[in-house]
Amino acid sequence: MNNSKTVTIELEGRKIRVPEGLTVIEALWDTGHDVKRGVGCLSGLCGACTVAYLEKEGRKVKFGLGCHKVVEDGLNVIMLPYFPARLARYLLESMENPLMQLAEIYPELYTCNDCKACNICPEWINVAGVMKAAKDADYETATGHIMDCIMCGLCASRCPKGIAPQHVALFIQRALAKERAFPPNLQKRLDQLGSHQFTAEWDSIATMGDEELEVKCRRPEGA
Ligand code: FES
Repeated sequence: MNNSKTVTIELEGRKIRVPEGLTVIEALWDTGHDVKRGVGCLSGLCGACTVAYLEKEGRKVKFGLGCHKVVEDGLNVIMLPYFPARLARYLLESMENPLMQLAEIYPELYTCNDCKACNICPEWINVAGVMKAAKDADYETATGHIMDCIMCGLCASRCPKGIAPQHVALFIQRALAKERAFPPNLQKRLDQLGSHQFTAEWDSIATMGDEELEVKCRRPEGA
């Protein structure tokens, strides 16, 4: 990056000067780190790039996403490794009432003592609140809180009871969706895809050059 201003940060334990304005991942690349693992969408969506950092004069380590966190002078930051978490196996289609089986699928949920260690979410989700609602069988509240989850697993890395809140919440979301009527607009689109209604158009898009694509994607005036 062509930027004359620099900041000094401690990156993976090494003091280093990097151009200001970079994200942590960009700073790693800029300083020759060959980071592939832990980098996915670069847009705050995939949850692959969790980091722990201490700001200058900061007293408390914070957590975030390497593709979002912008470097600043005095920042001390590391990328966090993948953290293992138990992922239960289940076949939703074969379950009559999946929510009734939550205790069987994720029994560890009921050992949660609301210590709130899991409240380190880079998406600012109140994870402990989600787990409490799930334990209390208030599933609508639980899923309402969890919509922004990007499955990074930071919460699971902190739980002293071995709960993986992201997996528990995903099960609840799936179970609730199963109970609800299938959205008619989604069914319509699936039927269209199933009958190959868009195949010819997609094939033509796949062979277009940049200019043609730009024209194709341009929103018509007044649309
Ligand atoms: S790389 Fe996907 S969330 Fe950061």
